Amino acid sequence: VAVTAIVPAAGVGKRMQSQHPKQYLSLAGKTVIEHTLAKLLASNYVERVVVALGAEDGYFYDLEIAQNPSVITVVGGQERVDSVLAALKASEQFAPQADAWSLIHDAARPCVSTEEIDRLVETCLTQHCGGLLAAPVKDTMKRGDTEQRVQTTVAREQLWHALTPQMYRTTELIQAIEQGLANKVNITDESSAIEAAGLPSMLVNGSPNNLKITQPEDLVLAEFLLMNEQR
Ligand code: C5P
Repeated sequence: VAVTAIVPAAGVGKRMQSQHPKQYLSLAGKTVIEHTLAKLLASNYVERVVVALGAEDGYFYDLEIAQNPSVITVVGGQERVDSVLAALKASEQFAPQADAWSLIHDAARPCVSTEEIDRLVETCLTQHCGGLLAAPVKDTMKRGDTEQRVQTTVAREQLWHALTPQMYRTTELIQAIEQGLANKVNITDESSAIEAAGLPSMLVNGSPNNLKITQPEDLVLAEFLLMNEQR
């Protein structure tokens, strides 16, 4: 079975308040994206990686990993979903089989483990169903109104944090995204497009350590986690 990893890395990372896009910040001796790509390439299921880069990206080709023949690049788009779609279309050309799978993983999540990537892949392949890594919500959840007054407490038993990777059949996902965009669905991850298309998607237990680097304080925790991995 062919699994292509898709890595959206075309964001500018506005919330990081940094000169460099967050995927190129240095953590534990390597850039964020180098950690991420190494985790994906370490999985025996991942045949190649398609990375979606910003049109003006001036960093990626200076990295050693850019020379890896399993790493292919495409130009991303305005929103994350546009970047994912561009990479999926390239992936479809490299792996045109009807049952080819794509595994989408944010460049900004370097703390994922290869073990949990494999857990997702194995679950999807054995269940013949797409899915995503997710972590159960731990805190008590409140719904607020526009004035930030508590309206209600939301039962957390069925709530999960959606993480990446998320894995779906390539052709099915392309169709779901195109249909979602045409219907103005708010597609913030792959599963939201799949759900809107009425297709099943499974929650596979992932670690909350698989955080998305978003704000400056995330760097401290991510660096700690990456340093401990290397021991
Ligand atoms: O900005 P956010 O944290 O939601 O980005 C998640 C991932 O999507 C990041 O790896 C970012 O580089 C990527 N992205 C993209 N194209 C965009 C916006 C974000 O590939 N237009």
